[in-house]
Amino acid sequence: MDKIQINGGRQLKGEVLISGAKNAALPLIASSILVDGVSTFENVPRLMDISSIQMLLEDLGALCEFKGHTFTVNASGIDKIEAEYELVRKMRASILVLGPLVARFGRAKVSMPGGCAIGARPVNMHLSGLEALGATISIAGGYIEATAKGGLTGNEIYFDIPTVTGTENLMMAAVLAKGQTKLRNAAREPEIVCLADALNRMGANITGAGTPIIIIEGVSRLHGANCRVIPDRIETGTFMVAAAATMGDVLIRDCIPDHLGGVINKLRATGAIVDAFEDRIHIKGSEIIKNIDIKTLPYPGFPTDMQAQFMALMTIAQGNSVIHESIFENRFIHANELLRMGADIKISGGNIANVRGVSHLQGAPVMASDLRASASLVIAALIAQGTTVISRVYHMDRGYESIEKKFEGLGADIKRISS
Ligand code: EPZ
Repeated sequence: MDKIQINGGRQLKGEVLISGAKNAALPLIASSILVDGVSTFENVPRLMDISSIQMLLEDLGALCEFKGHTFTVNASGIDKIEAEYELVRKMRASILVLGPLVARFGRAKVSMPGGCAIGARPVNMHLSGLEALGATISIAGGYIEATAKGGLTGNEIYFDIPTVTGTENLMMAAVLAKGQTKLRNAAREPEIVCLADALNRMGANITGAGTPIIIIEGVSRLHGANCRVIPDRIETGTFMVAAAATMGDVLIRDCIPDHLGGVINKLRATGAIVDAFEDRIHIKGSEIIKNIDIKTLPYPGFPTDMQAQFMALMTIAQGNSVIHESIFENRFIHANELLRMGADIKISGGNIANVRGVSHLQGAPVMASDLRASASLVIAALIAQGTTVISRVYHMDRGYESIEKKFEGLGADIKRISS
């Protein structure tokens, strides 16, 4: 397994280009199942998770081609409705093929995605939503079996929690249902809007994406289209925090500042100077990093996927910070590794972290546990005195394209140690 070695203390300077968003590309590629034809997706990041969903689609019988950052799917030849455990266990977002398979074929058998390091990650809302659309759901042998003889029928669905992939799965299921579907308390993330735009380009009739109420008027069929993946707002936020942490001066290009309101607001509160333009953000770190409190919330609140990165920044802030993780039940694993680097963090009640700023961190061997925790350790290593070696970086390769090259391009002393 590869490792990443970082010698800390460098200020990040220069420009960095943001890649397409993993969490937009995955539902977009899954939506190609709905089309008896060819769909093309531009600006797809080259990541492990994209390879995983490609393997899954090809196992179902689709033909895929991934050239540069363009991903093309011919879903005409899909002749299998079963997403197998061996493929789903590699990436739990594979659950996103469930809705499209039931919508187009009236049947689907998808392995339960199971939990991950950050939480149990149940899919009950995905399943109850499909039942509301007329599907019969059974769970046996670790598999979800969904059937809808005669197809799905539109209905009103209320989410107890604004679930991102739940909203995406049911939006895709509803596009071919008979009649109207209304999703209430829907997730509002930009990735939802990107998916709705793509489905509408394929001939769907969706309004309200990005608001808590999404209305889908069922249509008889979809056709292929050319769609573009939005820039990755979490990658953008990760580089912003890294620039602030290293008192850097960085221009982040090909991003959408409007997708980062909560993050920009919080970074300015720490003292960083953040200038946002149409498709770029200029950020300058301040010598004194002020302590701030954050609470993670559904979009447009502060994103849970930025919590670990912010915790790394707060380890060297002036004073104490309180971090409240309200979305996932176990998303402080990175704190244990930051403690090994000399941070002062106390976890109370499972979802509150009290971070007391220290003068500096020390480099140490640490271990990545999940995608965003690995980004947190990179930021900590960039500011630490001495050398840090991060193991299990496959977690990072799932969601960050050429991460060490991008940081190297900003002046970081970083290299990958291939096993
Ligand atoms: C998406 O996960 C993202 N993944 C996650 O990013 C992100 O952290 C999360 O949304 C929250 O923003 C993708 O888009 C592929 P949820 P998702 O359903 O959809 C509970 C990353 O780092 N819930 O919005 O799985 C759930 O347990 C990943 O890129 C149910 O209880 O998250 C959680 O507490 C990590 N029942 C809350 O809702 C359900 O049926 C929000 O989860 C579904 C969710």
